[in-house]
Amino acid sequence: MAKLAINGGVPVRTAPFPQWPQGGKAELEQLEKVLKAEQWGTLGNEALAFAEKFAEYNGVKYGIGVNNGTISLELILRGLNIGFGDEVIVPSYTFISTASAVAIAGATPIFADIESGSYNIDPASIEANITPNTKAIIAVHVGGRPCNMDSIMAMAKKHGLYVIEDCAQAHGSEWKGKKVGSIGHAGSFSFQESKNVTSGEGGAIITDDIERFKEFWHFHNSGRAYDLAGEFSGVMLMGTNARMTEWQAAVLTAQLDKLDEQIERRMENVAYLNSKLRQLEFIKLLDTDDNVTKNSYHLFIMKYDSAGLSGIKRERFISTMNAEGIPCSKGYVPLYKMDAFNSPNFRKSTGSGIDYSAIHHENTEKACNEEALWLTGRMLLGTKKDMDDIIEAMEKVQTNLVELI
Ligand SMILES: Cc1ncc(COP(=O)(O)O)c(C=O)c1O
Repeated sequence: MAKLAINGGVPVRTAPFPQWPQGGKAELEQLEKVLKAEQWGTLGNEALAFAEKFAEYNGVKYGIGVNNGTISLELILRGLNIGFGDEVIVPSYTFISTASAVAIAGATPIFADIESGSYNIDPASIEANITPNTKAIIAVHVGGRPCNMDSIMAMAKKHGLYVIEDCAQAHGSEWKGKKVGSIGHAGSFSFQESKNVTSGEGGAIITDDIERFKEFWHFHNSGRAYDLAGEFSGVMLMGTNARMTEWQAAVLTAQLDKLDEQIERRMENVAYLNSKLRQLEFIKLLDTDDNVTKNSYHLFIMKYDSAGLSGIKRERFISTMNAEGIPCSKGYVPLYKMDAFNSPNFRKSTGSGIDYSAIHHENTEKACNEEALWLTGRMLLGTKKDMDDIIEAMEKVQTNLVELI
């Protein structure tokens, strides 16, 4: 086969993968509607309608649109009265916001390891980290793949804990036919630019419980009670301003209409990729689980096994693939290694004296340092030919291995 592109050969492809975000006529019409309206922010028709539509899509009663998926986590924690002195268990394999939101709310993030087969938080590690101060678990559906919600909910019930689902990467994913975010006590979503439903920035909270909804509401609306009681007599509750703008909601309404079709396309492409990847010795797939009835695939995560490719390091494989025109990356570093959790400000806001640098989670370390290989969700919106190019590049690396040794 032709020389590897990293060594001056012709790359497998130079064409870009599908554009993301994808806006169109529907988004334009929605934006024009807002432009002509006399309300551009502060709980206008679009924001309220989107919150309702999003709750309905997820099969819950209540939704709140907010300005991003970090503040949504913080608002949920505050609404559940979680703060200084409390502990919240989070996975060590996720985006930093999952843990930093806990600290910003004044509580202490406690890291749990992930399962090697799913890369989601390991229920056994959650249980091992529960103390009398534990108040909640944040279950992150990494890359779109639902966590084992049966085990997590059962354990939470046993120990009297809240379960917050961080669905920033999992809009539309389902565990046993139920949408993620609707299984725990509250669901948090991000609509940041890379996400499968996006308005550039944005977020949402969903819940089925009216009392919790009211708590989240006043925290997001500068302390105004849901029924506005007290506002004009000077009695306000605790809160910040995290309201979604009309522009965000207008775009999101159009984006949400496309989600199911896009999930279907990504799932089809993943099924095709998997059938080919199973034949490659240096790629291992995450475990299948029949309880995962829908995976929105914000990310397609597989495992690289250097033993199947003559010991070629993952980083070298990635740069070789990138040169062939296939963007892929290694993903996260273990969260407990980040300076954020060893900063004076972190210690001041949480009062925590934990030495996070002493933590070593075997599965998180393996995923971060050796195994994980990510493709982005936008690539999975491509054609069968796009998927074939990914496989062709991998096969080319294997065939031309001698060039890398
Ligand atoms: C798992 C997870 N949680 C939270 C967030 C934070 O969302 P946002 O960027 O909208 O604040 C992200 C964003 O990447 C995320 O991936």
